Amino acid sequence: MRLHKENVPIHRERARTGVTCPLMIPIDRSALPRHIACVMDGNGRWAEQRDLPRVEGHKMGEHALFETVAGALDLGIEWLTVYAFSTENWKRPPDEVKFLINFNEDILLRRQQELHESGVQIRFIGRTDWRVPKRLTRLMADATELTKNNTKLKFTIAFNYGGRAEIVDAVKSLVKTGIAPDKITEKMLARHLYDPQMPDVDLMIRTSGEYRTSNFLLWELAYSEMWFTDTLWPDFDRTDIAKAIYDFQNRTRRYGGVTA
Ligand code: FPP
Repeated sequence: MRLHKENVPIHRERARTGVTCPLMIPIDRSALPRHIACVMDGNGRWAEQRDLPRVEGHKMGEHALFETVAGALDLGIEWLTVYAFSTENWKRPPDEVKFLINFNEDILLRRQQELHESGVQIRFIGRTDWRVPKRLTRLMADATELTKNNTKLKFTIAFNYGGRAEIVDAVKSLVKTGIAPDKITEKMLARHLYDPQMPDVDLMIRTSGEYRTSNFLLWELAYSEMWFTDTLWPDFDRTDIAKAIYDFQNRTRRYGGVTA
């Protein structure tokens, strides 16, 4: 099949200045990454650079998050996963942890209807242990239920999520089936991950100039292409997503083999 390249006009919305600068990035819509995962890093530094409390950076991160969802919807991306709170984030100052929990609740309450009307299916991965407030667990269940039949974009929020914790939890769950150790295969273990339907990540994006996976989707990232940018998360927008996808489309994925 001949690849059809087209120019996708993408408009850069600048939250702070209101300036819009159009940018044409040639995206091949027939070769999109099926699953994009984002590490939304740099909120704290964005705020510190402006002498603002760190939580102001998280607040601005909401805009970037919805830009990313809108960009994924525009382009027709099937799966988008974001790292909202890690199993290690409990180490942050109690006030910031409290803010992040309340902020996640607040975003779900305020914006789930809009996501629902846009055809987004909201999903969650992570440990629902005693540290996650019941109220948030209930909101997650409600958002999942409300949007379960939507098909445009599977939007997964990783909350109290750790890649190692996920693998340990999958092993525990698999071992409980009574399987003999020498019968265990990768496919079997994958069926015990938090979301067995989630495909491997094709493109991982991390903002803020940090070059780490930080315990995000360790199993699912095995053959992901990584894209890093110095842009801090609150400044990230759909132009950046288009840039990441353009770069992705110009790479050769070999999966451990050789190029034909
Ligand atoms: C990392 O920046 C960001 C986070 C730990 C949280 C980001 C969360 C959101 C944007 C809200 C998500 C909400 C939903 C419902 C998906 P950082 O604090 O590590 O920044 P720094 O590295 O500059 O300190």
